[in-house]
Amino acid sequence: MGTRNTVRDLETLYREETPITMATCYDYTFARLADEAGLDAVLIGDSLGNVIQGRETTLPVTLDEIIYHTRPVVRGSDSVHVIADMPFMSYQADPAEGVRNAGRMLKEGGAQAVKIEGGRREAETIERMVGAGIPVVGHLGLTPQSVHKFGGYSVQGRESETRDEMIEDARALEDAGIYALVLEMVPAPLATEISEEVDVPTIGIGAGDQTDGQVLVLYDLLGLDTRFEPKFLKRYAHLEETVTDALRRYCEEVRNGDFPRDEHAFE
Ligand code: KIV
Repeated sequence: MGTRNTVRDLETLYREETPITMATCYDYTFARLADEAGLDAVLIGDSLGNVIQGRETTLPVTLDEIIYHTRPVVRGSDSVHVIADMPFMSYQADPAEGVRNAGRMLKEGGAQAVKIEGGRREAETIERMVGAGIPVVGHLGLTPQSVHKFGGYSVQGRESETRDEMIEDARALEDAGIYALVLEMVPAPLATEISEEVDVPTIGIGAGDQTDGQVLVLYDLLGLDTRFEPKFLKRYAHLEETVTDALRRYCEEVRNGDFPRDEHAFE
């Protein structure tokens, strides 16, 4: 094996109580930068349906599209741990189909692991994937593939019933063999309780500061779309402004003859 972070490296961070850093990533160039910045893990998230494809939901994203985006991420990086998201309907209908599709993420995409949304209902599928040698990350809370069931993108686990169910789900996923658990838009006290309950790292997005790591959508943390302003988001750059400003100046200079100059021309 090379120097790429493995599931064992993430476990070591967890045991040492070092927060795990993760962001989504969808291409070669950003994978190279994620590596250089020292992220522990990247996720080829089905959020690519939103930020790359401009879709309303993640539901139309296909397995082939995730594989397509996973390959350049692997090519662009040497160290970061690479997790590929299982898209809607690639595992829900049948555990055997789920295992085969997860296998494609590793065989064809080069991912080291897959992430799947859902709780107890997916436990059998996860157990089979892990049995086949495929490391699995769970995902509870706001699971965007269930947007139509939830009736929108809201915080999950606020009522005592859904709260108890989420704890049960987390236990079932741990028993099924997940090596990490994403908690999305979960009240901080519940995320803390789940983090204490399970012996695998929890990676939060809108789940407070007591999870064992954090994940954000790359384009959101870079400030590439200021129309999207969820409470949990912190922008570490303002690239929407930077990019539009650069493109505006480029247009201006081409139009007024300031670019290209002699130094940009071949003899
Ligand atoms: O698809 C995605 O980007 C995700 C993260 C938000 C965890 O699932």
